Amino acid sequence: MSWWKHGVIYQIYPRSFLDTNGDGTGDLEGIRRKLDYLQELGVSGIWLSPINPSPMFDFGYDVSNYRDIDPVFGNLDLFKILVKEAEHRNIRIIMDMVLNHSSHLHPWFEESRKDRNNSKAGWYIWQDAKPGILGRKRPNNWMAAFGGHAWQWDENRKQYYLHLFTVQQPDLNWRNPELKKAVFRDLSFWLDLGVKGFRLDVINYLIKDNRFRNNPYRWRFTYPRRHDLQHHRYDRNQDECFDIIRELRSLTDAYPDTMMVGEVYPDEGVHAPDLAGRFMGNDLLHMAFDFSPMYTPFKAETFRGILRDWYSTIPPGGWPCHVFSNHDQSRASSRLAGKYHREEKLRLLAMLLLTQRGTPFMYYGEEIGMTDVKLKPSELRDPVGKKYYPFHPGRDRSRTPMQWDNSINAGFSEAKPWLRVGPDYRQCNAEKQMKDNNSLFHWYKKLIALRSREPAFHKGTIEFPPVHEQDLLYYIRKDGDKQFGVILNISPRPVSAFVSSPGKVCISTHREAGSSTGRDLYLSPYEGTIVEWR
Ligand code: GLC
Repeated sequence: MSWWKHGVIYQIYPRSFLDTNGDGTGDLEGIRRKLDYLQELGVSGIWLSPINPSPMFDFGYDVSNYRDIDPVFGNLDLFKILVKEAEHRNIRIIMDMVLNHSSHLHPWFEESRKDRNNSKAGWYIWQDAKPGILGRKRPNNWMAAFGGHAWQWDENRKQYYLHLFTVQQPDLNWRNPELKKAVFRDLSFWLDLGVKGFRLDVINYLIKDNRFRNNPYRWRFTYPRRHDLQHHRYDRNQDECFDIIRELRSLTDAYPDTMMVGEVYPDEGVHAPDLAGRFMGNDLLHMAFDFSPMYTPFKAETFRGILRDWYSTIPPGGWPCHVFSNHDQSRASSRLAGKYHREEKLRLLAMLLLTQRGTPFMYYGEEIGMTDVKLKPSELRDPVGKKYYPFHPGRDRSRTPMQWDNSINAGFSEAKPWLRVGPDYRQCNAEKQMKDNNSLFHWYKKLIALRSREPAFHKGTIEFPPVHEQDLLYYIRKDGDKQFGVILNISPRPVSAFVSSPGKVCISTHREAGSSTGRDLYLSPYEGTIVEWR
């Protein structure tokens, strides 16, 4: 079985993991030093948010050289050591590749914008102005995700270029064969270095309508982000995108054991799992994220619906994956666990994530229950936060430094960290939790070990038998003769569950492992129990 189906993948936001050179920003050496920690937790792969050279207008999601490492993180030699040392611990490295756009400071764009005849003139998406009554008009009505129109006028070329994110992130022209070849060469570079896969940033945006038609208008009740006031019919999800993905798949298939997981961003009103499902398959992506759990309250009914929906849309050759937190969203611990019964809810979330069919993706700090940090406007670094505060706090809140111990700056850095450390770091830190066998860290560790040990969890089937209590989330994982019932009471009241047969507790938030269970189970508030049947 492929490693990425069998194991758990852990996302690291490298700026915030561990700073070893005293500049307040995390680095590759910091990640290397924490490989033992990750091995102890039991993860099989780490996905690194972008580490390529970048002027950091979008903190690495604006790449100025796809083949190198930004000096803030280290250099290629350090990267090679990291890959090797990780491999020794059976941990694979996944790179985050941002292929929809580059930085405006990438030499390709600097060349492209010089004039209309240079060798890279067609590597980006350039369009002439349309004549307007008051002078020039933009080519169409497309809006950028991070504010304003998606077209930027360039005085040199006397043309507009497209940027679906910030002005500093011009969109690459994937209809240009030379550009495609160049990017593919850069991807092979990383595969040759032993990288075992890619997380592909906004992969469904790669190709745009070749007639540049206007997006239809769409009314929504939201704060006035004009990007959300249109259906993104023509600036994403174009059929030709699948041809590019097929070529990407042929490229990665030439390297054993590699995996591609896509960030497929749905448009408002689009059924997210269906869309993600379309991007997976034997000749497409191995996995694509369905972000539905990020937009849902913590209720058994909603989660049951989301999960069943997700499983039913996985196409042949696709493989489900699950994610509750990442660098773009509020952490699940803040979104879903709240103040009351917090510890229990965090444990339920872990159980839910790690017992699904498909690959779980964790986000750094999730294993110790790190929360969003409330930052002052003057502390914001994220372009989205800066633009939309106070309507949207931006994404810095979930990108704050990893809380390692109770020393200054949570052991993250000796210098002033690039983002403020969470105020709870004296109670919530890795060192403290590693010492305490009953901590959340150990809970994650046990569940990861169970998932890896038991085929029912990493490759078995999943079934949702009917339940009589709407607060109960109940599913059965099965492989051969071995069956496990996962029973979660997502409510502050006790509820009873009726299961198919008596069994034995495998792991539980409230019960002793190994104790017997009958057909009736009375679950405490926010209890999660896995029963084993043979
Ligand atoms: C993706 C990334 C996000 C980034 C954006 C532009 O959504 O997850 O962090 O800002 O793409 O690259």
